[in-house]
Amino acid sequence: MLSSASTLLAPRMFWVLLFLAAFRSAQSGIWDSPNCTKGVVSVLKGKPATMTCSISNAYSHINVSLKTNHTAPWKLIFSVDASGNFFQDGWQLWVQEGEAHLVIEKAQVTQAGHYKWSLMGLQRNIEITTLNISEPKYLLLPPPTGLEMSKPPSDLNPEHKSQILVIFTILALVVICILLICTLPWHRRHGSLLSRLQQVRRL
Ligand SMILES: *[C@@H]1O[C@H](CO)[C@@H](O)[C@H](O)[C@H]1NC(C)=O
Ligand SMILES: *[C@@H]1O[C@H](CO)[C@@H](O)[C@H](O)[C@H]1NC(C)=O
Ligand SMILES: *[C@@H]1O[C@H](CO)[C@@H](O)[C@H](O)[C@H]1NC(C)=O
Ligand SMILES: *[C@@H]1O[C@H](CO)[C@@H](O)[C@H](O)[C@H]1NC(C)=O
Repeated sequence: MLSSASTLLAPRMFWVLLFLAAFRSAQSGIWDSPNCTKGVVSVLKGKPATMTCSISNAYSHINVSLKTNHTAPWKLIFSVDASGNFFQDGWQLWVQEGEAHLVIEKAQVTQAGHYKWSLMGLQRNIEITTLNISEPKYLLLPPPTGLEMSKPPSDLNPEHKSQILVIFTILALVVICILLICTLPWHRRHGSLLSRLQQVRRL
């Protein structure tokens, strides 16, 4: 009876032990379980940006590639084997054990796009993070170019001149009118005085 029970229990025990072993190895890190920055990272142009990927084991190799748009090919930025700080153009990659940070100090529009992380721990994992770089609103207005800058003065000058001419002619007309109105009675009086004087002389 006892022996038959133990023969029945043995396979069950085996499966339980196998399950426990698998569970423990999962706990101790058979799987890299990558955890990368989710969603879209959005920053203003010129501002810092950070994207992170961590795995539960130490990295043995990391490749980071950038695809700036649908038609552009993947461009390899980093291919590193060990922990350390790596610099490439406007990018920095900080790697320590199972943690990797991709840092941009001053984000440029050319750095926006999809970043493909090829992460090697105990497995090979591919993760994609997206960086969106927007221009500050005041920069959305078209900046004045040399042509536009030189245009207004040459355009405004004739306008100004004609306006000044019109104002001057109106002013001149007004002044002439006032002078005429003021001097007419004087002329009359003067005229009459002169004629009187002439009359006096004749007498
Ligand atoms: C993933 O990483 C973020 C921060 O880097 C952390 O808050 C989060 O708990 C992590 N998720 C998992 C499942 O480890
Ligand atoms: C896509 O990227 C390539 C290379 O960076 C560039 O030459 C091309 O003009 C871009 N196309 C669009 C639609 O932005
Ligand atoms: C990283 O890139 C190099 C060169 O393209 C390639 O040989 C290697 O297999 C890549 N590693 C991973 C983990 O994708
Ligand atoms: C990126 O940001 C701009 C402006 O902030 C927004 O209009 C656009 O939809 C964003 N793109 C993505 C892919 O999130």
